[in-house]
Amino acid sequence: VDPTRATQLALGFWPARAFSAAAEVGVFALLEAEGPLPVGVLADRLGLRSPAVVDLLDALVALGVLARDGDAYRSLVVPDPSLLGAADGDAYRAWAELPAALRGERASMFAGLGPDELARFAAAMGEVSAPAHAAVADLVAPGERVCDVGGGDGRLAVAIAERGAVATTFDRLVPDVPGVSAVGGDFFVDELPPSDTAVLCLVLLDWSTDDKRRLLARVAASTGRIIVVDRLGPPDRPTGAFDLLRSLHLLVTVGDAFHYSYDDLVGWLSEVGLVAGPPREVGAGLTLVEGRAG
Ligand SMILES: C[S@@+](CC[C@H](N)C(=O)[O-])C[C@H]1O[C@@H](n2cnc3c(N)ncnc32)[C@H](O)[C@@H]1O
Repeated sequence: VDPTRATQLALGFWPARAFSAAAEVGVFALLEAEGPLPVGVLADRLGLRSPAVVDLLDALVALGVLARDGDAYRSLVVPDPSLLGAADGDAYRAWAELPAALRGERASMFAGLGPDELARFAAAMGEVSAPAHAAVADLVAPGERVCDVGGGDGRLAVAIAERGAVATTFDRLVPDVPGVSAVGGDFFVDELPPSDTAVLCLVLLDWSTDDKRRLLARVAASTGRIIVVDRLGPPDRPTGAFDLLRSLHLLVTVGDAFHYSYDDLVGWLSEVGLVAGPPREVGAGLTLVEGRAG
């Protein structure tokens, strides 16, 4: 075993967390807004009282993301907010539970979310799925009954209702949105509202294969057509460390979620009597697939 490599891997979270924590307390945003600052001013402005703030800044200099000119620190990077969302304190706590997740001892994230957390999560998801909303709404006709299953904050259902369709959202969360009837319930247990078209937008991804099939069967029994939007994975199993670790990130943060491929979806849709249309890229890495009665 290469001791240096083993040490790097064992303690690799030190620099990662120093970087994400610096972003979390506002170091990069402040330096971007105000330009170079000495440690005393920076610590005052951010309300950081520990004498170790200078160690953090010097560590970030050593790591190549800050530079020091005299006593002033300046930022060499502008961290991407969506990246930082995957590296915040919640993400670190979730990764601490990786052994339990591997033992199958962690329930789906949704089981543990209270109403406020669920609403915050759904609002964030509504942003992620927003690039796909127009593409879904383009596929519905006026008067068509459309049920957005796992409809979250209801934003997609609003876009559908604006096209003259009769839009319903079904979710544990019951948003108050105009022109949409919001039905609360558990899509694994409760009866789904009957519809001509059901939508599953960023929903299938969150579940194990068995649960994906169970959900598709329940949805198919309530509708004639299913529109699926998700971030699909490649047809072959990934081999790169980043893709594989991202899969573990999904496991620890969401549960037995995984990126499935278009071919997987074609198979699951055919099991419930639907024929999948071709995959369509609808922006922001999202793919739309329609399943229709054959
Ligand atoms: C990743 S979000 C996607 C939300 C929305 N479709 C969008 O694209 O923004 C998944 C949604 O599934 C809902 N959900 C999770 N488990 C559920 C269950 N058992 N029954 C009903 N809804 C559930 C969550 O409340 C959440 O709003």
